[in-house]
Amino acid sequence: MASSTSAARRRPAGVPSPAQLFFQEFLKHPVMVGSIIPSSDKLIRKMLDRVDWDACKLFVEYGPGVGTFCRPILERMAPDATLIAIDTNADFIRYLDATIIDPRFQAVPGSAADVRRIIAERGFEAADYVLSGLPFSTLPPGVGPAIASETHAALRPGGAFLVYQFSPKVKSFLLPHWTRIDHDMEWWNVPPAQLYWAWKD
Ligand SMILES: C[S@@+](CC[C@H](N)C(=O)[O-])C[C@H]1O[C@@H](n2cnc3c(N)ncnc32)[C@H](O)[C@@H]1O
Repeated sequence: MASSTSAARRRPAGVPSPAQLFFQEFLKHPVMVGSIIPSSDKLIRKMLDRVDWDACKLFVEYGPGVGTFCRPILERMAPDATLIAIDTNADFIRYLDATIIDPRFQAVPGSAADVRRIIAERGFEAADYVLSGLPFSTLPPGVGPAIASETHAALRPGGAFLVYQFSPKVKSFLLPHWTRIDHDMEWWNVPPAQLYWAWKD
C-alpha cells in the first residue's frame, strides 16, 4: 500500500547535503561506513518491492546513514506504521533528526546488535521487516553473527530480513538462522550490490 503520508523534508541552514555528510563520515569512519556513496534509486526500489506494506506495522533499518532508504520507506509505509532507524554514528542520527520530520520515524543511536532491546523499549514485541546496509564483513569480530542472531529473534514469523551488500559473503551470516533466502543483484549501484530477502518461517 502506498501511504498518502510522506516525510516532511527540510535542511536547516548550516546542515550539509546528504552526499557531503556521507563522504565526510566515510573519511572519518571508513570501516564502519563501508561505502563512499549512498545506495542508488534502483537498488532501493528493487529491495523494497518485495515488502508487503499492508502487513507492515514495524519496519527497522540498520545503518541508515543519511537516510537514503528512510524516505522511500516512509513514502510506502502505512500512516499507522513505525520506522525505527538504528545507527552507531551519532552524526548521522543528528542529521536524520534534523532533516526527517515525520511522526512515524524514530532515529535511534545504538548498535543493530541491540535491536530486541531497542524495539522493546519502544513498545514493540517484534519487527515485520528489518533492512540492513551494514558492512557485515568489516564489522568487529563477533558483531555480524550477533546481529544476525538477534535479528532472527526480533522478527515475527512471516517477516523478513532484507540485506544489501557488495560481497556475497554476507550470506554466510544468514545461513545459520534462515533457510528460505531469495537473492538478486543490482548492477546500477556503486559498486554493484547483492540483495537478499531472508524470510522467517
Ligand atoms: C554503507 S553505510 C549504509 C548507508 C545507507 N543505508 C545507504 O544505503 O546509503 C553503513 C552504515 O552502517 C552504520 N553502522 C555500522 N555498524 C553499525 C551497527 N553495528 N549498528 C548500526 N549501524 C551501524 C554506519 O554508521 C553507516 O551509517
